[in-house]
Amino acid sequence: MGLFTPKTKKIKPAKGLTGAVQFPGDKSISHRYAMLGAIAEGASEIHFFSPSADCQSTLSSLRQLAVKIERKENVVTIQGAGLSGLRPAREPLNAGNSGSTMRMLAGILAGQPFRSVMTGDASLSRRPMKRVADPLTQMGARITLQEGGLPPLEIEGGALKPIRYEMPVASAQVKSAILLAGLFAEGETEVIEKVRTRDHTEIALEQMGADIGRHQRTIAVRGRGRLEGKKLYVPGDFSSAAFFIIAALITPHSNLTLHNVGLNPTRTGILDVLVPMGGRVSVINLEMMNGELIGDLHIETSKVAGGEIPASAVPGLIDELPVLAVLGTQTEQGITFRGAAELRVKESDRLAAVAENLKRMGAEVEEFADGLRVAGQQALRGAEIDPHDDHRIAMAFAVAGLVAQGDTQIKNSSCIDISFPDFFDTLARVTE
Ligand code: S3P
Repeated sequence: MGLFTPKTKKIKPAKGLTGAVQFPGDKSISHRYAMLGAIAEGASEIHFFSPSADCQSTLSSLRQLAVKIERKENVVTIQGAGLSGLRPAREPLNAGNSGSTMRMLAGILAGQPFRSVMTGDASLSRRPMKRVADPLTQMGARITLQEGGLPPLEIEGGALKPIRYEMPVASAQVKSAILLAGLFAEGETEVIEKVRTRDHTEIALEQMGADIGRHQRTIAVRGRGRLEGKKLYVPGDFSSAAFFIIAALITPHSNLTLHNVGLNPTRTGILDVLVPMGGRVSVINLEMMNGELIGDLHIETSKVAGGEIPASAVPGLIDELPVLAVLGTQTEQGITFRGAAELRVKESDRLAAVAENLKRMGAEVEEFADGLRVAGQQALRGAEIDPHDDHRIAMAFAVAGLVAQGDTQIKNSSCIDISFPDFFDTLARVTE
């Protein structure tokens, strides 16, 4: 793993989760604010910036491109370099474990009059990049990938032309890369999504004054405009909160409040399936912050029916599927989902990793090419979990450990730093 000290973490069965939690800033949104701040005019002050290792990879890559960035605890100040202020990096840019850094930054680098190389860790080096190289090549960038369409990625940027692109995969990272490249193209770039994915880039672009239009599933951005640096507040990370939502639902005596969580509807798909299944999750104190919906959640222990998650719901809860599978074991009917082949190309093959670890805990699970069927009403037994260096697998099985019989050991648990370095401390504070 290089970056992390492998550390086995023991999880004990819990009586319940009580009290209140405040989550660190959203990882997806922090990446976007940093990248847009870097190419805006003037300073951006980003509050509650994500403490994740992934967002640190974005900041260090931007610094290598001569962007001035200061970080004091969770406040990041970026001196915007403008659309033409980035400079070539001396060394390859290292995106670490972060697909968002590599794919979205590729959009910005495509518009630069210089050559850049982007590398990543072992996991990122196995993830597909052709999906981003294809549209950016159509726009005029010259991109070289390794065999199989894998990183390192070499980008020879330059003058870009606008394209109209129908997305072949549902991916907010790819959509964002095209929109970011569109900022450097002369004219209007259009992206058409088959299924809606998270729209943080569109919202952030609007907030920073870009000329962007949205109509149903088409997003259009006009290039060569001016972005304005801004004071921005990052909402709490809903994808981190999801582990606590499920943990509170399945442990026997829970009553938990989560404060200032980002509730952008393109992210909260898990609530849309949990509530009709009987999950007692209520939303309180809604407000808008820099165009993003934010609010508090209250969760109580619940009997969750389970059932089938429609494929159309998958993009809205893609990062929550591992913990939803864990929930499945505690539901009445179990949980089935299909149409999620994308999970095979995340930080790990998440379908295989979830199936393997559920089996280690004695659960019945069927693995499909594009989904899982997890049986309900299962007694889990504490086991040794291999997260495959994937933060979301480690956290999902820490949640499973709370309802298992006996102790659960999460191997190499430091991979959680990728998104939520304080996960175990936060969990310990609210767990009885
Ligand atoms: C992300 C989009 C999703 C998600 C990832 C973050 C983003 O990936 O799984 O964790 O910030 O845009 P894809 O765009 O590959 O679906």
